[in-house]
Amino acid sequence: MKNLLVTGGAGFIGSNFINHILDKRDDVFIVNLDKLTYAGNLENLKSSENKKKYLFIKGDIQNHELVEYIFTKYKIKHVINFAAESHVDRSILGSEVFYRTNVIGTNVLLETARRFEVERFLQISTDEVYGSLGETGKFTESTPISPNSPYSSSKAAADMMALAFYHTYQMPVVLTRCSNNYGPLQFPEKLIPLMIINTLNNKKLPVYGDGLNVRDWIYVIDHNKAAELVWEKGKVGEVYNIGASREMKNIEIVKLILKTLGKSEDMINYVKDRPGHDRRYAIDSSKIQNELGWKPEFEFETAIQNTIQWYLENKNWWERIINGSYLEYYNLQYKNR
Ligand code: NAD
Ligand code: TYD
Repeated sequence: MKNLLVTGGAGFIGSNFINHILDKRDDVFIVNLDKLTYAGNLENLKSSENKKKYLFIKGDIQNHELVEYIFTKYKIKHVINFAAESHVDRSILGSEVFYRTNVIGTNVLLETARRFEVERFLQISTDEVYGSLGETGKFTESTPISPNSPYSSSKAAADMMALAFYHTYQMPVVLTRCSNNYGPLQFPEKLIPLMIINTLNNKKLPVYGDGLNVRDWIYVIDHNKAAELVWEKGKVGEVYNIGASREMKNIEIVKLILKTLGKSEDMINYVKDRPGHDRRYAIDSSKIQNELGWKPEFEFETAIQNTIQWYLENKNWWERIINGSYLEYYNLQYKNR
């Protein structure tokens, strides 16, 4: 049995990960430690909550005593750290909580994992640590770190720390840097769910700047299968890029959503650009493909349709979120524009 601590497992990617692992494996016992910030939602874990090999604990990864108690009580030998403040716009409005959770929180986990001599520590990172690309080229694992937002700089600090623990203490640390995810259960502040929900609610779609910024999109299940592989088979001390080679301009995504839902492009509202907005991300994932045999399984065309369909069928899920924090949600979207 693998006793695995998953942090941030009530968020978008972490909950998809837990549901995926518990659906298909019975050799993993998962303790999910999540603070349940605005982005954490136990409803995401409905299909897992009664499983014998799953336990939820509400708490902060910065809480030393709690983290140590979990390692002792549940004999944790594996850690996957998904917990983070994850939204760039929020990091621009206020960065402190980003450094607290993403840097100090990761330090608490690494220090405890070191003392308890874990077998594996997977730090879930992002391609945003590489900064921004021009018209050509892709991020490889040897692209220099050059983060531009408070969010990406906090993730980059955590990456450096995790690698330093490998070099200094020979801790069995592995890292993944994935591109932009989409899929069910994504909090409606990120581009794709926000645009789907605004379209369904007949609200304007706020496109930043000229709408020509490029992101490289991957379906969340493809990310999670890659993370599972790196957790168990990745070489310690190594970084693995994850991406599905699907570059899209933001405006192309927005128009695709409008077309799918049968709405007019008049709903598009070009608004003031995000400060420091990275122009283009594109990821080279040949290392994980060649060394670990991973490849993306989902075609963008089908998976984006499945995602739109999921939001159509799960109105209760997102209406509760929007109604619950509507004012904050509204301010975040329009305050600076
Ligand atoms: P999310 O915001 O949906 O979820 C984050 C989760 O972490 C929430 O459940 C929240 O309650 C929890 N959390 C926040 N602070 C915490 C703390 N101090 N202690 C314990 N739990 C805490 O984020 P996501 O999109 O699921 O991202 C998960 C991870 O993947 C993050 O580390 C992010 O940097 C990384 N990542 C995300 C993307 C993407 O496109 N969303 C791409 C690449 C990497
Ligand atoms: P986002 O989902 O916030 O992810 P990230 O900034 O981490 O890549 O944004 C994706 C892209 O969409 C990014 O270029 C910013 C843009 N965007 C908009 O144009 N309008 C919006 O309302 C949001 C949330 C994002």
